[in-house]
Amino acid sequence: DARGAVRRDLMGRELLITAGGTREDLDPVRYLANHSSGRQGWALAHAALARGARVRLIAANVELETPPGALRLDVGSAAELAALVAEHRGQVDALVMAAAVADFTAAERSDSKIKKDESAGDDSEAVPVLALRRTQDILRLSVLERTEAGSGRPVIVGFAAETGGGGSSALDLARQKARRKGADLLVFNDITAGVFGATDNSVRILDRGGEELARAEGSKTLVAHAVLDELLPALPEVP
Ligand code: CTP
Ligand code: CA
Repeated sequence: DARGAVRRDLMGRELLITAGGTREDLDPVRYLANHSSGRQGWALAHAALARGARVRLIAANVELETPPGALRLDVGSAAELAALVAEHRGQVDALVMAAAVADFTAAERSDSKIKKDESAGDDSEAVPVLALRRTQDILRLSVLERTEAGSGRPVIVGFAAETGGGGSSALDLARQKARRKGADLLVFNDITAGVFGATDNSVRILDRGGEELARAEGSKTLVAHAVLDELLPALPEVP
């Protein structure tokens, strides 16, 4: 740990952490995916365990060794991830959505391998058009479900990797996203310079109004502890 001695300030708490990136099958051999390595989610799991928490770690296509002590559950697609989060979120004190979830999946998965010539017909230049549909927004749904239940549990943390665009800065987009999603915390990562798979990270932690609570720059471990530091006061008192 970068800060030396670790406080056991998450004793008695249970966290559900999602990590990695989902894969959406197109046919038996191909999928749509993203560049998420799972390292930030892993760092969060290690940090939370070190601080005394119990951790359920939902891993979407992560090739990293399971943090000792974590309950690891593996998933492939966004739909599988959504189902597991729905099953577990009512049983934990905090939900940390570090996974990169596909926004779109194949409208129809082909049971057989998509063939080049069949999709092109007689025209050797033609290409198939992939029909997509939207996936569930797990973070948004988790916030909605909590509101409907009239409960403050679990505390919900989202992540947003943004590049600016369309006249908006990355930070502006993150602030808007914080307000739109309604999570208690949104961890904003400016990826204009690229960060996936990197060991170092630079984030701002926003509240649900888009206001900055903290900044962290350095290892993913350091960032993980900074996120947990902000999560801690949002947790209800231990009875
Ligand atoms: N997320 C989710 N379910 C999805 C997509 C995203 O729970 N189907 C979560 C991610 O795990 C992350 C947060 O929402 O914690 C923000 O993800 P992001 O992709 O930045 O947000 P989107 O609303 O999908 O917006 P964008 O158009 O920028 O992709
Ligand atoms: Ca997205």
